[in-house]
Amino acid sequence: MATEPAAPKSASPFTRTNPFPGKLIVNRSLCGSDSEKDTRHFEIDLTGWGLHYEVGDSMTVWPTNDPALADEIIKIIGVKGDEEVKGPNGTKPLREVLLRDCRITQTTPKFLKAIAERASAAPLLNDLLKPERKQELDTYLWGMEVIDFLIEHPSIKWTPQEFVDVLAKLMPRLYSISSSLKAHPERVHFTIDVVHYESRGRQRKGVCSTFLAERADNAPVPVFPNTSRFRLPDDGNTPIIMVGPGTGVAPFRAYLQERKAVGAKGKNWLLFGSQHEHCNYFYREELEKMQSDGFLTRLDCAWSRDQAGKSYVQHKMLEGAAEIWKWMEAEGAHFFVCGDARRMAKDVDAALRTIIQEQGGKSEEQTNEYVEKLKSDKRYKRDVY
Ligand SMILES: Cc1cc2nc3c(=O)[nH]c(=O)nc-3n(C[C@H](O)[C@H](O)[C@H](O)COP(=O)(O)OP(=O)(O)OC[C@H]3O[C@@H](n4cnc5c(N)ncnc54)[C@H](O)[C@@H]3O)c2cc1C
Ligand SMILES: NC(=O)c1ccc[n+]([C@@H]2O[C@H](COP(=O)([O-])OP(=O)(O)OC[C@H]3O[C@@H](n4cnc5c(N)ncnc54)[C@H](OP(=O)(O)O)[C@@H]3O)[C@@H](O)[C@H]2O)c1
Repeated sequence: MATEPAAPKSASPFTRTNPFPGKLIVNRSLCGSDSEKDTRHFEIDLTGWGLHYEVGDSMTVWPTNDPALADEIIKIIGVKGDEEVKGPNGTKPLREVLLRDCRITQTTPKFLKAIAERASAAPLLNDLLKPERKQELDTYLWGMEVIDFLIEHPSIKWTPQEFVDVLAKLMPRLYSISSSLKAHPERVHFTIDVVHYESRGRQRKGVCSTFLAERADNAPVPVFPNTSRFRLPDDGNTPIIMVGPGTGVAPFRAYLQERKAVGAKGKNWLLFGSQHEHCNYFYREELEKMQSDGFLTRLDCAWSRDQAGKSYVQHKMLEGAAEIWKWMEAEGAHFFVCGDARRMAKDVDAALRTIIQEQGGKSEEQTNEYVEKLKSDKRYKRDVY
């Protein structure tokens, strides 16, 4: 991953520990009504910040938990919620700590241990907590949250402090910035897949993505930039190839805005992928306009579920292999990948190696050397999560 922890230097009073209270001003679906995904475009007003970020950076967002879930937990453990407790960010009423400071969805080992010790009927959990059964424990926990254990063991008594002590701190989330300050001063755009899923008969919500999608209209959105090495080439004449399926398109939208704003003459090629053309073509209008204007030199879209077999970005790469090789070898293009780390980034890497090997007539060893050189020359960059 290209992200590094250091934050940009500035004279702004805002810091990572004192993030800027942004205001959500746009929350718009990027999908049609029959889409399986709920991917959205968000815009946050940063007026009064005085800070700076570069395209390729991500933004740290501090969410608040779902109040309905916090209240359900308070009710189940049989307390009032106004009890003062010491949480990860100081002493506050329990409800406040559950809303803002503690992770109340995914469990912690401490929480599970406390359940196993206190519940008379949790032999399975007791057994799964043995170190040698870690993998089985992870499988058992997939889709299970704190609330499931509380519902399953209503007889367990907790003082508010005991309960808070077994929870983890609520951590902020990172989002790729999908706009350029040159095109949208004092704003930041995000492209976010809102996490909703069902498990054990309950609707679950990803904390931060649903905070933005459902609960941030009248609340400040604390944000602070996270500097990245996922940077455009310094020379605006250098061609760029951007592989960004799904939300991976986010930084490339920012790159394109930036290059347009500064009048960069280098060629731009975007490979985008999503489920269905009719309902998952994010930013269709603006991408097609940039293409018809000639600014986006080439746009290839892979619709994975519009035909019998899968069509992915790496298939589009292989179809355009000769052209990719020409851009890379003859024209010195930089190659960027953003999005899913688990499968997509590996498959795209394999496709790139195939292209280098076949188009460049190289052995496997020469191909590996070529890829290492691309990386050390900062011409092959990935921001994958
Ligand atoms: C550098 C970087 C950039 C990123 N950029 C973006 C971006 O531009 N857009 C974007 O959308 N995301 C991006 N992410 C991911 C983002 O940070 C969050 O991880 C994501 O939004 C989920 O956070 P959440 O709080 O909504 O969900 P969480 O509350 O963290 O819940 C997610 C968790 O829920 C569980 N879960 C999810 N689905 C299921 C299921 N079907 N069954 C069972 N359990 C499940 C998993 O444990 C998963 O880890 C980026 C991440 C990084 C590191
Ligand atoms: N931590 C989290 O909870 C969280 C939240 C958001 C995103 N993410 C990560 O980010 C990823 C991207 O999410 P997203 O919503 O932006 O994208 P996505 O919609 O899941 O995927 C975008 C496109 O990529 C395709 N695809 C699937 N496997 C691929 C592969 N091996 N190679 C190339 N393309 C592939 C998908 O096709 P098919 O679906 O038809 O196979 C789809 O058309 C997720 O898969 C997840 O790993 C994690």
